[in-house]
Parts: sequence; C-alpha cells; structure tokens
Amino acid sequence: MSFSKIAILLPFLGCVEGFVLPFPPVPAGVSSSFSVRSDGRHLHLRPALKTAAGASSVDISSVKTDSITGPTTLGPLPPLEGFDGKAGSSPALTTNNQGGVWVPQMARPRRNRKSETLRAMVRENIVLPRNFIYPLFIHEERYETEIPSMPGQKRFSLAGMMAEVAESLQFGVKTFVLFPKVEDRLKTNDGREAYNPAGIVPRAIAMIKDRFPDVTVMTDVALDPYSDQGHDGIVLNGKIINDETIEQLCKQAVCQARAGADIVAPSDMMDGRVGALRRALDSEGFTDVSIMSYTAKYASAYYGPFRDALDSHPGFGDKKTYQQDPANGREALLEAALDAAEGADFLMVKPGMPYLDVILRLKQATNLPIAAYHVSGEYAMLKAAAERGWLNEKDVVLETMTCFKRAGCDIILSYYAKMASKWMIEDGLI
Ligand code: PBG
Repeated sequence: MSFSKIAILLPFLGCVEGFVLPFPPVPAGVSSSFSVRSDGRHLHLRPALKTAAGASSVDISSVKTDSITGPTTLGPLPPLEGFDGKAGSSPALTTNNQGGVWVPQMARPRRNRKSETLRAMVRENIVLPRNFIYPLFIHEERYETEIPSMPGQKRFSLAGMMAEVAESLQFGVKTFVLFPKVEDRLKTNDGREAYNPAGIVPRAIAMIKDRFPDVTVMTDVALDPYSDQGHDGIVLNGKIINDETIEQLCKQAVCQARAGADIVAPSDMMDGRVGALRRALDSEGFTDVSIMSYTAKYASAYYGPFRDALDSHPGFGDKKTYQQDPANGREALLEAALDAAEGADFLMVKPGMPYLDVILRLKQATNLPIAAYHVSGEYAMLKAAAERGWLNEKDVVLETMTCFKRAGCDIILSYYAKMASKWMIEDGLI
C-alpha cells in the first residue's frame, strides 16, 4: 500500500463509527500526534482522529507500509551552526500548533498532485488514439523492408499495409497517411506518375476503403516521391517552379480523390496550392474531400530518415526556396492566414517537437484544428536513445504526445501512433 493511500485511509477509518481499529495504545513518551514523513511531506495524526476504541492516536508502525521508502518518523533535524530558522526577531520559518516546522502559506499547488486520482482529475490534456494519424510507407514489392534509420518502421507491401491498418484499428487508430516509394523508372521531372490512376497510391486507397470503409485515408500531395530531381515540384533551370507544379498537384489530388481519399495533404509548400486544390476538387464534385495543409513546413534536417525510407533525397541543393526557414515564427502566421482563406480544413506544423511554439501561435491565430507532424528524425532520435537504454521509450513517447496536445494540437501525425495507442490501452491510461 502506498503512503498516499494510507494518508487517505486513516482519517476515513477514524470516522467510521463503531469500527475498532486494532492499534495498540500509544507508548509512553510518544506524542499523541505523529509526524510521519514520506518524500518530504508531513502527516499529522491529530487527536480528532480518535478511534472508537478510544486510542488517542494511531501507531503508524502497525500499518502495513511495505512500499514506504525512507523514514516514517522525523526527529529533530541536524542544526546548521550559526543558523536557526525559527529564532530571531524575523524568523524565516515558524512552528505550527503541533510543534512541527511550518512555512505559512495558503496555496500549496502540491495538494492537487498528491494522488493519481487527483492528478487525473485536474489533468488538462489527454491524448487519445483517435487524435493520431499513422503514416505508412508502401512499395510495390511483395515483402516488407525494414528502414534502418527508423527502427520498427517498414516499407509495406500492399498486403502488409492492410495487416498494419487492421492491427492499428484494434488500438483505436483510424486515420492513415500513405507515402509511396516509387520505382526509379517511373520518376520524371514533371512527376506524372503522381496522377496515374493505376499507380500505387490510388490502388492502396481503394484497397483500404474497400475493406475498411470507416477508415479515414489521407494522402500526401507533392511530387517528390515521383520526381527524378528529388524535389517537391517541377525543376526548370535549377529552380522549383510554382504554378506549373500546382497544375500537377491538382491532377494528383483529383486522382487521389477519385480513388477514395478522404483528406488530401499538400506537403509541397508551393504558394497558392491550397486554393487551387480546393477549386480543382470542388470542380470535380469532391466538395467533401478535406484539405490538411502543411501550413508551416520547415526546411528541416529532421526529415533525413523519411528521405531514406522513400529514397527521395533532393537530387541537388535543398528545399529552402519553398520550405520555411527554421528561424522564422511570425512567417507561419502569414502561411496560416493564406491557407485558412484558401479553404484549408486543418493546419499542420512540421516538424513537431522543436516547433511547439509555432503550434501554439497557430492555435491562437486560427479557429481551425491544428495538426503536428512528429517527423522521421524525431522518431529516430527517440528510438536511438531508447535502444541504448538512455530513455524509457514508452514514458518519453507518451510525454511527447501529451506535449503536442498541451501546445495546442488536435491531431498528431506520428510513426508511434499504433504503439502509443497500444501502450495507453495496456496501461489503462484511457
Ligand atoms: C515530402 C514530405 C517529406 C515529409 C513528408 N512529406 C519530406 C520532405 O519534405 O523532404 C517528411 C516526413 C518525415 O520526415 O517524417 N513532400
């Protein structure tokens, strides 16, 4: 029994009429009030706690204290020469009616933390499996391939993807985002494979929706998996050209919507793509297909393992002419205002952990739901530390997910979606 349970139980038992506690009388020389210490707290058993048997107090030594660590009574503390906190004309500390040391104060925030019941009662944020979107890598092979920089994540065959979806559903994860590894021979500068109706993504969407109509399928809208340049858009004279890229993205999104996608998520960062996608979808009758915009997507070094997974490292240069500068926070508000005006249904911040301030800013600036992408590099960092035994993986993952909620996220994209949900359920946290 834990100390806090004893602390709650004792006053309760003392109040039950006719209930005789088998406590022995107080030994001579022992005060009728006990000062019991556990991790720095005091429990004073006052005379008011008299038992029905008339004992003036309770001998704590008769209570089972198997899990109490440290001393259960606190004698006089060793003095510090030249300092007595209770002496002098303006003492630093004082003494309460029971003779114990007292730092007078009314508010004690620790009271609301004293038991798991109270902590749970006042908990401000809780992550649920339904808040997750689970990214799945897929390829045309008939087998699964491990991704060395993302231990535990795989590139799935379509059959393997179906099994992963089915397993995740058991833990309450119902939304998935698909990322394809496209064969090199299909890659072009204009990324036309992105809107091949017989391509891997449209087939994967149709398979999932056919077997699990209630699953929400989200797709990535960008050309990089299909680009022989390794960029999110069409390259011309070493530049990523905006408007021509958007024309391709519109075809890609309409193709995905035709296959059954519920949400399309442009991750390309071209200017004006959300409005163009909205019009393209609407003009084809897909007014119900949602847009989750990668609103504040930063030119981040945290995407490395993802690019390993899809073999989609930029062929030249970097993505800094379209993705945001990690140094900028205010600029995210500009992107957010545009995306909202252009008809985005959700705004996303990416990466996640190092950008919690951006999440909060967006949350405060808009009434749209906010998502964060806990990206591949963040996953890899936690995995690497956990594998070395430097971090407790479950604890650090659940804390991380809760931090996203606290920062203002409604939705979390994470490679940990399935595992975190499983842990939450197994540990009775939800
Ligand atoms: C590409 C895309 C990237 C990610 C999602 N979509 C990589 C990039 O922009 O280079 C990264 C996701 C992750 O790192 O987990 N459009």
